[in-house]
Amino acid sequence: MPLFSKSEETAVDFDHLPRHIAIIMDGNGRWARSRGLPRTAGHAAGAETFRTIAVYCKEIGIQYLTVYAFSTENWKRPAEEVSAIMDLLRKYLLEAIEKMERDRVKMRFFGDLSPLPDELRDLCLRTEEISTHYEGCQVNICLNYGGRDEILRAAQNFAAQCAAGKRIPQELTEELFSRGLWSAGIPDPDLVIRPGGEERVSNFLLWQSAYAEYYFTKVNWPDFSKEELRKALCAYQSRQRRYGGI
Ligand code: FPP
Repeated sequence: MPLFSKSEETAVDFDHLPRHIAIIMDGNGRWARSRGLPRTAGHAAGAETFRTIAVYCKEIGIQYLTVYAFSTENWKRPAEEVSAIMDLLRKYLLEAIEKMERDRVKMRFFGDLSPLPDELRDLCLRTEEISTHYEGCQVNICLNYGGRDEILRAAQNFAAQCAAGKRIPQELTEELFSRGLWSAGIPDPDLVIRPGGEERVSNFLLWQSAYAEYYFTKVNWPDFSKEELRKALCAYQSRQRRYGGI
């Protein structure tokens, strides 16, 4: 089955894909409002889009996909919206666990899971445990995640190790610091995609995105299709990455 149409085949170079794609899944609320639906319907549609895009990323050979599902700031939303998102995640993970042996996608969670409802937290840990040996494609779900929070935790952890006499401040390198982040051992994202029309970073992967290419689109996340992903890949491939060089 072809993964793309003839015209797109010439546009995306599937032999030189980004290794790691990160996505801020934005615009669920506006998608719902424009259809006269409750915001929670937007999140439900967004969860389906996530499923489609994750499967497609695996099909085309993306090694890492990281998505922003719930930020440290999202607790400020109305309680019923927070609980609807938690419920969607719970449903998604229950289904994912059922199909795990078939899909063989490694799953990880970035963020402090301790404030989550017990059942959801247990499902996250179970999903990580079952999929730990899978290879080929890894999906990271950022849950109760904040970029500044992540950096602070890594700094506190390093400071504590210094205070305990296990490390000295001069030892600290970017590589060592990276090992204290939720993303330890995972390459930095090459491409960060933000649908929904806003052009900001919103506390997402602040350390890891130092040299990422950003792609913004007005399309709301529930409408973000495989074709929209191919457009983002084309834009990425048209850019020259210099990492500060010339
Ligand atoms: C941002 O849109 C979206 C969220 C805060 C929630 C994202 C959650 C999901 C897609 C559901 C579950 C996820 C998985 C991985 C199964 P918004 O509500 O800020 O939209 P708006 O800016 O239009 O209001």
